[in-house]
Amino acid sequence: MPPRDPNSEKIIDFVVNKRNGVKGLVDAGIETVPQLYILPVDERLEPNKILPTDSIPVIDVSNWDDPVVTQSICDAAGKWGFFQIINHGVPLEVLDAVKDAAHRFFGLPNEERSKYWAGNSPTETVALKTSFVPQAETVLEWKDNLSFRCSPRDLESFPLWPPVCRDEVVKYMESAEPVIRKLLEVLLKGLKVEEIDEAREYTLMASPILNLNYYPRCPDPDLTAGVGPHSDISTITVLLQDDSGGLYVRATDDDSWIHVPPVNGALVINMGDILQIMSNDRYRSIEHRVVANGSKDRVSVPIFVNPGADATFGPLPEVLETGEQPLYKEVVFSDYFKYFFSKRHEGKKTMEFARI
Ligand code: OGA
Ligand code: NI
Repeated sequence: MPPRDPNSEKIIDFVVNKRNGVKGLVDAGIETVPQLYILPVDERLEPNKILPTDSIPVIDVSNWDDPVVTQSICDAAGKWGFFQIINHGVPLEVLDAVKDAAHRFFGLPNEERSKYWAGNSPTETVALKTSFVPQAETVLEWKDNLSFRCSPRDLESFPLWPPVCRDEVVKYMESAEPVIRKLLEVLLKGLKVEEIDEAREYTLMASPILNLNYYPRCPDPDLTAGVGPHSDISTITVLLQDDSGGLYVRATDDDSWIHVPPVNGALVINMGDILQIMSNDRYRSIEHRVVANGSKDRVSVPIFVNPGADATFGPLPEVLETGEQPLYKEVVFSDYFKYFFSKRHEGKKTMEFARI
């Protein structure tokens, strides 16, 4: 990584070492984007890279047993790696409450917020962070997030979670759980796995992580990355976005992007690397990115549905049944996770870790 200029070092000190986050920078009244956040021109999302006509499917899942519904889900997982679902059964009030809770947490005075800073938090199950991996990034991402580990065991530390948002986080996680289970059942059936037994369940969904993502209003969002291009390392991700817009999905390999329009009450579902690996590329974990908003603070709430830390995954035997060659080796989830968090967001490069 090239050395940073002295002003960038000052900003790093304020944002990262002093635990103010990019929210702190905005609260301090900056009116231009500091150099530390300015992307090289070729990494910006220029308007000519956006395909205005395409969009990802919106699937009505009021009847999960309808074969048309299950087929649309599996088709979308293969073609786009992304789709939105409506009529999924998570009440609108629960969705609104968790978004409000994100605004409440990030609206706390800095001294209150920073009590939860990663490494300093009263519990390992909650961590406030900024950007993605600041120590590995030349340009920082315009985002802070509060991350919750949400397995049943992690929930034992609930009393130590921030009171301004913890009830809403747990309520949302509980309400989303049946949707997650249903989605995985459908997607795995599409791979000829008829039943998710206990071992498979551990590999597919034992250790979910829920993030409250906060993208403060940015003086010039086109110069920055809210989140840079990446694929998620989850099995699937269930993402709740607000009405700001700004989420883009890669359309083709030649650097074109599609906007994911906010649909009130919908959840955005995307395939993560693990399901791409387990499906031996039948499902695809497509790159996506976020551009912050120029006029308001944006929040989003992804649930990364992750394996247990010591679970191993690789192409499923059911998929390889007909003699197909595996494209990936068996990997331990904690190794994959560590690798992802050792570098900046770099598109789909993490998958090389598992490729044969
Ligand atoms: C992520 C992500 C999208 C969003 O956190 O991995 O892609 O809309 N977020 O915030
Ligand atoms: Ni993502």
